[in-house]
Amino acid sequence: MDTEMRPGSSLSIFLLFFLFSSLNIQHCGAADNLSLGQALSGNQTIVSKEGNFELGFFTPGNSRNYYIGIWYKTIPGQTVIWVANRETPVSNTSSAELKISEDGRLVLLNSSKIPVWSSNSTPSTSNSTVAVLLHTGNLVIRDGSNTTIWQSFDHPTDTVMPGCCLGLNKITGKQQSITSWEDSDNPAPGPFTGSMEPYGSNQFVLRWNGSEIYWRSGVWTGRYNPSISGSKSDTLMKFTFVNNKQRKCAMYTILDSSFITRTVIDSSGLLRQWFWVQSTQEWQTFFIEPLYQCDVYSQCGAFGICDQQKSNICRCSYGFEPASMKEWEFNVWSSGCVRKTSLRCGNKSLAGEQGDRFLEMTNMRLPANPHNLTLGSAQDCEQFCLNNCSCNAYAYVGRCSIWTGDLRNLEQLYDADSGGGTLYIRLAASDLPGSSSSHKLVISLTLSVIGGILGILCALVGLIWAFQRRKRIWMAKQVESSLIQFSYGDLQHVTKNFSERLGSGGFGSVFKGTLIDSTEVAVKKLEGLRQGEKQFRTEVRTLAVIQHVNVVRLRGFCSKGSKRLLVYEYMSGGSLDFHLFQNNSTVLGWKMRYQIILGIARGLAYLHEKCRECIIHCDVKPDNVLLDRDFCAKVADFGMAKLIGRDFSRVLTTIRGTIGYLAPEWISGLPITSKVDVYSFGMMLFELISGKRNATQSEDGSKIFFPCLAATKVIEGDIFSLLDHRLNGVADIEEVTRVCRLACWCIQESEGHRPTMGLVVQILEGVLEVSMPPLPRALQVLAQDQSQRCDHLSSIKCKDPPDQSLDFYQ
Ligand SMILES: *[C@@H]1O[C@H](CO)[C@@H](O)[C@H](O)[C@H]1NC(C)=O
Ligand SMILES: *[C@@H]1O[C@H](CO)[C@@H](O)[C@H](O)[C@H]1NC(C)=O
Ligand SMILES: *[C@@H]1O[C@H](CO)[C@@H](O)[C@H](O)[C@H]1NC(C)=O
Ligand SMILES: *[C@@H]1O[C@H](CO)[C@@H](O)[C@H](O)[C@H]1NC(C)=O
Ligand SMILES: *[C@@H]1O[C@H](CO)[C@@H](O)[C@H](O)[C@H]1NC(C)=O
Ligand SMILES: *[C@@H]1O[C@H](CO)[C@@H](O)[C@H](O)[C@H]1NC(C)=O
Ligand SMILES: *[C@@H]1O[C@H](CO)[C@@H](O)[C@H](O)[C@H]1NC(C)=O
Ligand SMILES: *[C@@H]1O[C@H](CO)[C@@H](O)[C@H](O)[C@H]1NC(C)=O
Ligand SMILES: *[C@@H]1O[C@H](CO)[C@@H](O)[C@H](O)[C@H]1NC(C)=O
Ligand SMILES: *[C@@H]1O[C@H](CO)[C@@H](O)[C@H](O)[C@H]1NC(C)=O
Repeated sequence: MDTEMRPGSSLSIFLLFFLFSSLNIQHCGAADNLSLGQALSGNQTIVSKEGNFELGFFTPGNSRNYYIGIWYKTIPGQTVIWVANRETPVSNTSSAELKISEDGRLVLLNSSKIPVWSSNSTPSTSNSTVAVLLHTGNLVIRDGSNTTIWQSFDHPTDTVMPGCCLGLNKITGKQQSITSWEDSDNPAPGPFTGSMEPYGSNQFVLRWNGSEIYWRSGVWTGRYNPSISGSKSDTLMKFTFVNNKQRKCAMYTILDSSFITRTVIDSSGLLRQWFWVQSTQEWQTFFIEPLYQCDVYSQCGAFGICDQQKSNICRCSYGFEPASMKEWEFNVWSSGCVRKTSLRCGNKSLAGEQGDRFLEMTNMRLPANPHNLTLGSAQDCEQFCLNNCSCNAYAYVGRCSIWTGDLRNLEQLYDADSGGGTLYIRLAASDLPGSSSSHKLVISLTLSVIGGILGILCALVGLIWAFQRRKRIWMAKQVESSLIQFSYGDLQHVTKNFSERLGSGGFGSVFKGTLIDSTEVAVKKLEGLRQGEKQFRTEVRTLAVIQHVNVVRLRGFCSKGSKRLLVYEYMSGGSLDFHLFQNNSTVLGWKMRYQIILGIARGLAYLHEKCRECIIHCDVKPDNVLLDRDFCAKVADFGMAKLIGRDFSRVLTTIRGTIGYLAPEWISGLPITSKVDVYSFGMMLFELISGKRNATQSEDGSKIFFPCLAATKVIEGDIFSLLDHRLNGVADIEEVTRVCRLACWCIQESEGHRPTMGLVVQILEGVLEVSMPPLPRALQVLAQDQSQRCDHLSSIKCKDPPDQSLDFYQ
C-alpha cells in the first residue's frame, strides 16, 4: 500500500461507512422483480435486493395524478430518481397496473386497461422475461436467456445516477438526455435538457427548448474538469468517458458504495449534484451549474428580466405582467410575462399619438438571434421597427438589430463593461411611463382628489429631491438580500467621514457606519489592491452570494477610481481576539468557547465545501472571527485572496502576527489548498484552549510556543494542564480532549493528514471519534526556525508516525 495516503481517502471511507452503514438494511420478503403474470397496482411496490430502492406508484407534491417511479427506500421523504409515464399519468391506482405484457414489454395499463406507457423494448416471447430493480436504482428487463433487453438507465428522466452512462447509442443512433420536470408537482418534460453534444465535441451541454445552449462542461480531455467539482470528488467518485463501437457516453461511478448521490437537472434549469448526509438527514448540494441562475437561458420566460442582484431574480419588463400570477408567486417563472395592453400596430383607427412607442432599457443583456439590418442610423432602425408589426424591440449598437416574437433571456446588468447594451422595447403608448391617455383611468375621479394626490406627490418629490443621497441608501436597504452599490460619498456620509475606526489589518482599516434606517455596518477600506474594476465587481458578486449563519455577510461595496470599499453587517460582540486575550474582558466560559469553535468550523466548512465556488479563507485567526450580540461566531474577511489576487501571499507573509497561523505550504511554495485554513484553525484552537496567544513570553523572558507544549501534553495525556487557568478547571474534559487532539491533527505538516473542515465539524458535533494524533513534525521545524523553546520535544520519540496507517479514528 502507498505510504503517502491519498488525502482523505481513508477518512472518507471511514466517515461514509460510519454515516451510511445504517442504511444497508436487508428487506427480506419484498420481491425485487416482476415477472409474467404478475402486476403492480395500488400501493404495491417492488424493492431492490439491498433494500435501497423502491418502485411503485407515487403522487408528486400537490398533484392528484399517479406515476410509476423509482425512489430511495431508505431516505425519508420521497426522492424520485426515475419516472416511467411522465407524460401520461393515471388517476386511479387501484385498477391501474404495471406488468410484463405477453410480448415481453413492460407496460402500464390505466383503469380502462388501455396501455398508457410501454418500455418499447424488443419483443420477447420467452415466458421467463422478468423486470428486476437493481441496487443501483436501475430497472432492467431480462429475457429468457438472461440478457438485458431494456434498462431505465438508458431512459433517464431528470436524474443521472452513478453508473448511468449518458450519451449516444451508436447502434440505434439514439441520443440520451435528461429533461427537467415541468415543476415539482409535474414530472412532464420541462424546457431544460442536458445531454452530450451529439456530433460535436465531447462535452456535456445544457439547453433550453432543445436549441439554445446555456452551459457547457468543457471538452473532455481525459480528466474531469475539477473546476465544477469539489476537491473531495476524486476520492469519492470517478468520471469516465466511454467511446467504443456501441456508444459514446460519460458517466460517474461511486468509489464508495455508501456515498449516496444523484445529479439532477431541476425545473429552473440548474444542473445540481446532490449527496445525502445521514447525520443531518438532508440532501446537500455538491455542485451547481451554471453558477449564476441568470445564465440559464430564458430563466424568466418571455419578456421577463433576470436580475442576479435581487432576491426575486425575475421581474417583468415595464408594461408587462406575469402570464400566471399563481406560478410567479411560487417562483416558477417559465410562463414569462404578457403585455398589459396589446400593441396598436396595424390598427388604422388609432394613429399618431395613440400608436406604439419605445421604452429605453439601459444596461441589458440583449436577447439572442436578432435580425441584423443594414440601416444607417438609430432613427431609421426605430422607424423600421415601428413599421413592422412583428417587431417587438430594437437596439442600435453600431448597427441595427431588431427582434420579432418573444424576447427571452433578458438580464439586467450593472457594469457598463459587461457587454450589455440599450434595448428599446415596443409598448402601447398608454403603457409608457408618464402616459396621460391611460384608457383604464376611472372617470369618476374628481378633480379635487387628483389635486390632492398631486399635492402629496409634489411634497414627495420635494422630499425625494431633498434627500436624494439618503434615498439611494434607503432604497438599497429595501432590497434585503441584494448587494448594495454605494458611492464613495454615501460611505463618507454613512461613516461620518471615516471617523470611528474599529480596527485595521493587512488589507486596510475598518470603520463603523450607520445606514439611514439605523442599521449598523462595518465599512472596510481596502488597501494595496491592484485589481481592475471589472474583476473586483465580479469577485464581490461571488462573495455576496455567500450567506451562512457563521459567516459575516457582505452588504455592499464601493468601487470608485482606485478606491475599493466593502460594507459588512456590523457585529456588536467584537472580535474573538479581544475576548480571548484582553485582560479587561470577561472570561469566556468553556461551553461558550466550544460553541464558538463549532461555529467557526461550520463557517469554514461552508466556505470550503458548500459554496458554489470553494473559498479558501487564507487568513484564519482570532482577529478575523467576529461575535454577534449572542456570541455566535462569524468568520470575517473571507475572500480576500480573490480580491487581492496574485499579490495575496506576499501581503499575507509580510503581515506581522499572521505568521504563526500560516501553514508550511505558504513558506515552502507548495500549492495552496483549503487545508491551509485547517492548519490555521488548528493553531487557533490552541489559543482557545489556553486563552493565550500561541507565542508568548514566559516569566524568565524566554519565548514559549504553546502548540509545541500542547502537542506533547496531548500525547502524554496531561490535557487539563493546558486549559486556560482562568477557567479554574471548569470544563468538560471530554470536549477539551477532543479539541486538543483535533488541533494536533489540524496542524499536521502534510496536508493529507489534516482533516477537512467538514470532518472537523463532524468530530466537534460528536458524530465521530478522534484518535490520538502523532506529534506534528511541522512544529519542530517552526521551533527551530523561530528559536523558540520547545522543551518536551526531544523527549518524545514521535518523529515518525507510530503507525503508517494514519487515521483520525480509533
Ligand atoms: C424474484 O423475486 C422473488 C421473491 O423475492 C425471488 O424468489 C426470485 O428469485 C426473483 N427472481 C429473479 C429472476 O430474480
Ligand atoms: C395498501 O392498501 C391496502 C388496501 O387499500 C391497505 O389495506 C394497506 O394498509 C395499504 N398498505 C400500506 C403499506 O399503505
Ligand atoms: C378507483 O377504482 C376502483 C375500482 O374501479 C373504485 O372502486 C374506486 O372508487 C376508484 N377510486 C377513485 C378515487 O376513483
Ligand atoms: C385510459 O387511457 C385512454 C387512452 O389514453 C383514455 O382514453 C381513457 O379515458 C383512460 N381511462 C381512464 C379511466 O383514465
Ligand atoms: C412457459 O414455461 C413453461 C414451464 O414453466 C413451459 O412449459 C412453456 O412451454 C413455456 N411457454 C413458452 C411460450 O415459452
Ligand atoms: C442473470 O444475470 C445477472 C447479471 O448479469 C446475474 O446476476 C444473475 O445471476 C443471472 N441470473 C441467472 C438465472 O442466470
Ligand atoms: C421551441 O422549439 C420548437 C422546435 O424546435 C419551436 O418550434 C418553438 O418555436 C420553440 N419555442 C420557442 C418559444 O422558441
Ligand atoms: C383598433 O382599436 C380600436 C379602439 O381601441 C378597437 O376597438 C379595435 O378593436 C381595434 N382593432 C383591431 C383590429 O385591433
Ligand atoms: C446578427 O449578428 C450577430 C452578431 O454578429 C450574429 O451572432 C447573428 O447570428 C446575426 N443574426 C442573423 C439572423 O444573421
Ligand atoms: C418584419 O421584419 C422581419 C424581420 O426582418 C421580416 O421577416 C418580416 O417580413 C417583416 N414583416 C413585415 C410585415 O414587414
